[in-house]
Amino acid sequence: MSEFNALVVGASQGIGLGFVQHLLQRPQIQMIYATYRSPDSATGLLALAAQYPERVSCIVVDITQEGQIAACCQQILAEGHLLHWVINCVGILHEGELQPEKGLRQLKAEPLTRYFQVNSIGAALWAKHLLPLLKHGDRSLFATLSAKIGSIGDNHLGGWYGYRASKAALNMFMRTASIEYRRRSPQTIVVTLHPGTTDTQLSKPFQRNVPPDKLFSVDRTVTQLLTVLDGLHKEDSGQFFSWDGSRLPW
Ligand SMILES: NC(=O)c1ccc[n+]([C@@H]2O[C@H](COP(=O)([O-])OP(=O)(O)OC[C@H]3O[C@@H](n4cnc5c(N)ncnc54)[C@H](OP(=O)(O)O)[C@@H]3O)[C@@H](O)[C@H]2O)c1
Repeated sequence: MSEFNALVVGASQGIGLGFVQHLLQRPQIQMIYATYRSPDSATGLLALAAQYPERVSCIVVDITQEGQIAACCQQILAEGHLLHWVINCVGILHEGELQPEKGLRQLKAEPLTRYFQVNSIGAALWAKHLLPLLKHGDRSLFATLSAKIGSIGDNHLGGWYGYRASKAALNMFMRTASIEYRRRSPQTIVVTLHPGTTDTQLSKPFQRNVPPDKLFSVDRTVTQLLTVLDGLHKEDSGQFFSWDGSRLPW
C-alpha cells in the first residue's frame, strides 16, 4: 500500500475530534482530512491542525450542503490523494429550538425534516461523492455513526421520533449504499456504528439517568470503535455494529 489517508467528517468536537486525535497516533496514516462547520466549535481541531500541518487538513463542510460535500471530495482528489478510511461523525439530537420529541403532540414537519437532512441525507450524499476516492486496489472503509435508538427491532421505549427515524433511515441508506459499493468498489466496507452513550455536548442534557459505567468518555468510545473498525472484513459490509463489535438488529 503506497499511502493511507483518512477523512473524519464532523471532526469539530465530540467523537469526531476524538477520532482525529487517535488517528494521529497511527504513523501509517499520512493525511487526516477533517471537516468542520464553524471555527467557534472547532478550536480543538484547528489547534491540532496548527500543530500537525503536514498531517491534518481541515475543510469546511455543512453536511446539508451537497455542493460543499462535492467540493471537499474534489479538493482531496485534486491534491492527488485517495481515501482509505472515512468516518462520518455528524449527527444532531438537539439544536437550538430543536429538541427530541416526547410524544406525537410535539411533532412538527420542519424539525423532523432537519433531523433527516443532517442525520440521514448527508451521509447518503457523502456515499455518492466519496466513491471515486474510496475505489482503489486497497481495502477501504466508510463508517457512519448511527445510534442503537435507530434500531426498529430494538425500539421498546418510544419517543424521540425524529432522531430515531432519521437514524433508521441512515441505516437503510448505508445498507443500500453498501450493496452498490460491493458492485462498483468491491474493496470498500460500508458500515454504521453505535458508539454507546458518550459524554459529549449531544448527550449532555440527557445524562442524568445514565449509570456512570454506561457513560463512556470520548477516549474510551473511540478506542472501542477503532477496535471494531480494525477487525472488519469485506463480508461485514452493510452491517450495523455496536461499540463492542456485536451486530445490532435493524
Ligand atoms: N454521544 C452519544 O451518546 C451518542 C450516542 C449514540 C450515537 N451518537 C452519534 O454519534 C455521532 C457523534 O456524536 P457526538 O456525541 O460526538 O456529538 P457532538 O459532539 O455534538 O458532535 C456532532 C458533530 O456533528 C457536527 N454537525 C452537526 N450538524 C452538522 C451539519 N449540519 N453539518 C456538518 N456537521 C454538523 C457537529 O459540528 P458543530 O461543532 O459545528 O456543531 C459536530 O462535529 C452522532 O451521529 C450521534 O448521533 C452519539
